Amino acid sequence: MIVPLRFRAGRAAAIGEANATMVSLRVNGDEREIRADPSTPLLWVLRDELRLTGTKFGCGIAVCGACTVMVGAQAMRSCTLPVGSLDGKVITTIEGLGDGNGGPHALQRAWIEHQVPQCGYCQSGFLMAAAALLAARRRPTDADIDAAIGNLCRCGTYPAMRAAIRSAARALATS
Ligand code: FES
Ligand code: FES
Repeated sequence: MIVPLRFRAGRAAAIGEANATMVSLRVNGDEREIRADPSTPLLWVLRDELRLTGTKFGCGIAVCGACTVMVGAQAMRSCTLPVGSLDGKVITTIEGLGDGNGGPHALQRAWIEHQVPQCGYCQSGFLMAAAALLAARRRPTDADIDAAIGNLCRCGTYPAMRAAIRSAARALATS
């Protein structure tokens, strides 16, 4: 199992002072210059450096999806994504998800309408994966949803999530 750098040797190690380099990211619309070891997982840059703690750590091995963010239009698992591979990339986290006018994304409205979250821990990752799916496919079937979103939810919110994604897709189609 991969142990997050921050748990190995504290916060200084998380940004890798010894081999640090500069990486430019556009995060939720803001240009950010990050000094970090290129191998530092994006998750720890987001959480520890940029204080965007909506993106969660679950497994650390790209299995559970709790750390999912969008890189461009693609959902990616930030716990195993070296920040050095992302220079110049556009990153969207749960804090940046919205309708583009300061309001909630159709998925966030549908999540509330369908009362999806239970404990809530996995939910930001699911929302980001669902946002990437709807950006690529406007009317996904349940099979499309299951094929595109392999995230894990220990509270078993899958049926409510599928219903919310379908509902958001309908809302987007008529907006
Ligand atoms: S924490 Fe990244 S996939 Fe589980
Ligand atoms: S809502 Fe609890 S793990 Fe998904």
